[in-house]
Amino acid sequence: MKLLVVGGGGREHAIIRSLKKNPQVETIYALPGNGGIAADATCVPIGATEIDKIVSFAVENAIDYAVVAPDDPLVLGCVDALEEKGIPCFGPRANAAIIEGSKVFSKNLMHKYGIPTAEYAVFDQMDAALSYLDTAPIPTVVKADGLALGKGVIIAETREAAKTAVRDMMEAGVFGKSGSRVVIEEFLTGPEVSVLAFTDGKVVKPMVSSMDHKRAGDNDTGLNTGGMGTVAPNPYYTPEIADRCMQEIFLPTIAAMNAEGRTFRGCLYFGLMLTPNGPKVIEYNCRFGDPETQVVLPLLESDLLTIMRACTNGTLEETEVRFADKHACCVILASKGYPQSYQKGFPITMTEEAAQHTYVAGAKLENGQLLTSGGRVTGTTAIADTLEQAIQEAYRISDGVRFENAYRRSDIGQRALQALK
Ligand code: AMP
Ligand code: GLY
Repeated sequence: MKLLVVGGGGREHAIIRSLKKNPQVETIYALPGNGGIAADATCVPIGATEIDKIVSFAVENAIDYAVVAPDDPLVLGCVDALEEKGIPCFGPRANAAIIEGSKVFSKNLMHKYGIPTAEYAVFDQMDAALSYLDTAPIPTVVKADGLALGKGVIIAETREAAKTAVRDMMEAGVFGKSGSRVVIEEFLTGPEVSVLAFTDGKVVKPMVSSMDHKRAGDNDTGLNTGGMGTVAPNPYYTPEIADRCMQEIFLPTIAAMNAEGRTFRGCLYFGLMLTPNGPKVIEYNCRFGDPETQVVLPLLESDLLTIMRACTNGTLEETEVRFADKHACCVILASKGYPQSYQKGFPITMTEEAAQHTYVAGAKLENGQLLTSGGRVTGTTAIADTLEQAIQEAYRISDGVRFENAYRRSDIGQRALQALK
C-alpha cells in the first residue's frame, strides 16, 4: 500500500514509525515531513495547508490511504477534498473538525448536550466582554474562538490582565480572525489528563491516557509551549475515572456530534481536568496530540493502520485496540529561547540508540546534515515497566541527541511520579 501522511512534526514522525510496522505498507509520503522524518518516509515539499496540491499529489501517485494529522488542514477540509477524489482518509471532515476549530462551537455543543465543562460566556463585541469582566470571578480564562497555534488561551489572575487579553484579541487582533470572538470561562482546578480516542462515529476506543508538560520551565514555570514532554499512562486517570469519562463525556460527545449531523471519525482528543466536581472538558482537539502521540503510539500493541482504516470504514467495534501494560516518557529537546525567539541552523548529532528512540520535530536536511530548524527539535521516548525507569531511560537516551543551544526540562514525569507515591 502507498500511504500519505500530511504534517511534519514529532507527532507525524511517531505516526509514520507506527504505520511502518504493517508489512502491507510499501511507501509512505510525508507532506511536507522534515529532515528527520526523511529517514522513515519520502518527504515531499508540499505544505500541510496546501490542500489543492495535496489532493493532486495523492491522485497522481495513486495513494491508497491518507492520514491528515494537523489541525489546520483538517479544519480547512483536507479530508473532504481527498475523499471527493475517492481517497480514503483518517481524520474528521471539516464539519466535524470544527469541534477544535471553534471554541464557541465546542462550548455550545457541551452546553446543549450536558457534557461537563467550565461555565462560560461568548462575546463578539469588545465592550460587552470588558464590562462582563468588571464582575466576573477572578482568576478567569480568556480564549480566542479559532485556532491560534495553542496560544489563544490566557489565564488571567487579575481583572486588568483579563481585559488586556480581550483587547489584544478583539482590538489589536494578535490572533487574527481567530480572536474576533472570545470565550470567557470559569477557572477550573485539578490535575489535567489527555485522552486520545479512536472513533468511527459509532464506537469510541480510548487510547492509553497521558500527561503533557506545557510550560517551558521546570516546576511548571515560564511560558506555555506546544509541550515539553509527556508520560503515559497518566496516574491520575484511574479505572473509575475512566469509566466516568466514558459515560459522561466520550459517548455523549460522539452522540452529540451525530445528532448535529457532524459525525466525527478519526482521533478525538479530550483535554480533561479532574476537578473536585468531577472530570470536565477543557478542550477538544480533532487530531492526535503533540507530544502525547510520542508516548501513546509506542505503547500500542495492535496495528495502527488496521485501526485507522476501521475508523474510516465504520468497523472499529470489531477491531482490536490494545496497549502494552508499560510506561512511556518523552523528553523534548528545544532550541534555547523557545517559545520566544531562538537561533536555529545548528547541526544535530545522534547516537544510534538515540536515533531509534527519537522523533524529529524541527529539523531540516542540508547536504546530508541534519540542522535545527524549529523551536521544538526532537522528542526522545523510552518505554519501561515502571514510570521511574521510563523517565530515567528517556533522559539517558536523550543525552545522545546533541546540538548547540539545546534546552530540555529536567522534571518531565516528576509530578506523575509523586502522584503514584
Ligand atoms: P488549551 O490551549 O485549550 O489546551 O489551554 C491551555 C491550557 O490552559 C490548558 O492545558 C489548561 O492548563 C489551561 N486552561 C484552559 N482552560 C482552563 C480553565 N477553564 N481553567 C483552568 N485552566 C484552563
Ligand atoms: N499537546 C497538546 C496538543 O497537541 O494540543
